[in-house]
Amino acid sequence: MPESDQIAARQSPAVPRHVAIIMDGNGRWAKQRRLPRIAGHRAGVKSVRRVVERCIESGVEALTVFAFSTENWRRPQKEVGLLMELFLSALEREVKKLHQHNVRMRIVGDRSRFPMKLQNRIAEAERYTAANTALTFTIAANYGGRWDIAQAVRELGHSIERGELKADEITENLLQSSLALSDLPEPDLFIRTGGEQRISNFLLWQLAYTEFYFTDTLWPDFGKRSFAEALRSFASRQRRFGRTSEQVER
Ligand code: IPE
Ligand code: IPE
Ligand code: MG
Repeated sequence: MPESDQIAARQSPAVPRHVAIIMDGNGRWAKQRRLPRIAGHRAGVKSVRRVVERCIESGVEALTVFAFSTENWRRPQKEVGLLMELFLSALEREVKKLHQHNVRMRIVGDRSRFPMKLQNRIAEAERYTAANTALTFTIAANYGGRWDIAQAVRELGHSIERGELKADEITENLLQSSLALSDLPEPDLFIRTGGEQRISNFLLWQLAYTEFYFTDTLWPDFGKRSFAEALRSFASRQRRFGRTSEQVER
């Protein structure tokens, strides 16, 4: 897509600026095929690649995907270990391609619990792609919405202890600025694949006014057409942000 078309797409309110996705259904996809669960996760990486490309083409500025929740440590140790390995190998494989697509990549979540090698690779990938401008692609890993709010409050607490901030100065905006993704517009469109209709401790604060889209499609099956369908659904909605439709239409 020529850059001018991309900019035109960007200016249309019908295109979400920020899309957030819970990529669910990898395990069931594998089970249907009598494959081990990890085969579903591997297939899921391909869906991520497709959606990244569609976002760039559609003029979406930011894509945030939920890859591993703070609750996912409760899974069998073997699956957790394989997921960490997959995360590492996918990073090693994909970062160059993302860079060629002018994608800025970042990870949000508590990375301190990850193997050191993975932490290093994450930092490298973030540095390597930091100046890219086509899309901000954020992977939420060992992320939880409650963790996010708690870490933001802790940060403000430290500022108070240092005497740099007064409790009365804490506003919604200030708290927001300490959260993950504070430099991005709030998600306009939330997608969850895999048929469940819940947030599962993903972005809690940030989804306050996001449009929700649920699909039964399992994440490894989520491709070009499914994404286009989600964008179409988004474009057909009226966002009122508390106002009346008469006010919005005026
Ligand atoms: C989502 O797929 C990916 C991760 C949570 C890592 P699941 O692994 O949850 O797939 P289902 O829900 O078991 O089908
Ligand atoms: C949510 O999926 C987390 C990710 C997609 C990474 P889960 O499949 O773990 O969610 P629950 O536990 O079924 O709600
Ligand atoms: Mg699941």
